[in-house]
Amino acid sequence: MSFDPDKSPPRPELFDFQGVSMTHYFTDNWENIQNFQARPDDILIATYPKAGTTWVSYILDLLYFGETERQKDVPIYHRVPFLEIFFPSVLSGIYLTAAVKKLSNRCSASKLCSLHLYLFTQGTDMVDNLATSPRIIKTHFPVQFVPKSFWEQNCRVVYVARNAKDNVVSSFHFDRMNILQPEAGDWSNYLHRFMGGKVVYGSWHNHVNGWWKKKQTYAKLHYMFYEDLAEDTGREIDKLCCFLGLSRSDEVKKRVTNGVHFDNMKKDNMANYSTNPFMDFKISPFMRKGKVGDWKNHFSAAQSEQFDEDYEKKMTDVTLQFRSEI
Ligand code: PPS
Repeated sequence: MSFDPDKSPPRPELFDFQGVSMTHYFTDNWENIQNFQARPDDILIATYPKAGTTWVSYILDLLYFGETERQKDVPIYHRVPFLEIFFPSVLSGIYLTAAVKKLSNRCSASKLCSLHLYLFTQGTDMVDNLATSPRIIKTHFPVQFVPKSFWEQNCRVVYVARNAKDNVVSSFHFDRMNILQPEAGDWSNYLHRFMGGKVVYGSWHNHVNGWWKKKQTYAKLHYMFYEDLAEDTGREIDKLCCFLGLSRSDEVKKRVTNGVHFDNMKKDNMANYSTNPFMDFKISPFMRKGKVGDWKNHFSAAQSEQFDEDYEKKMTDVTLQFRSEI
């Protein structure tokens, strides 16, 4: 492999990992992840990618730690570390230099320093180094990959699910603009790969169903939907407070609701991923549309019909229902 300092790392290959399509960024640290020691008060936010992870991370971070200086200086991916991410093996000094060069126009020196730390650290270390408590941790793992200590410690888990059609649209644009994801290709091809589970983290259907099944036997799992959050953010924050055992004043909850509004998060550099050198916002921003129903701007009538037919076959549990419009 030849390295060009003005370029980013090559796009990763997708491979089968214990029956789930993955890339090495999320499997290279497998042993450390599986041996990760959760604490009883850890909170795990679990999602299929692009289902509203950052939104819920921000809500929980604000509910626990309020509007402190941290909000202005520390990117959300530091405050809520991504458990399984592992960069060091690919991010040789040469890529780091290129990344920092790219960012120097966008970030202050202190933000660049924190980014250095991010790039050189693995998710498990980031969690271990968190100074705040409780620790809020992000994962995209299907339920069977979650380190067993989370279950042994009876940790609270918040699972966020998003309707499949909007989820695949959001994933498509993300994969187009993020060099750390496999090449997206064209929309029609991407849609087929998504339906077959040939995208990072595998089948959406297996993911949402697997976590839904877990909810039946594990009491400390709050299963929530992106569409409900979009419909009434305040109501969903109330439910989260109830689940987490948090009493917060109406005023605080109102401030959180306002703070996590799409327009506010989009312009907040600590929430919108603008500090990430591997995302090209000229192709598509991280905070892209934040809507329910954007799939209608992407699916042809034939694609929608085919998708629905396949969906019916895979989503046989009638107790799990999604809304693709509100
Ligand atoms: S990731 O990369 O998996 O962590 O991405 P994730 O945060 O799960 O999902 C990104 C999508 O969530 C949208 N988003 C929001 N929508 C509404 N309101 C708020 N506050 C919000 N924050 C993030 C974001 O725009 C992505 O969806 P799309 O449809 O691409 O816009």
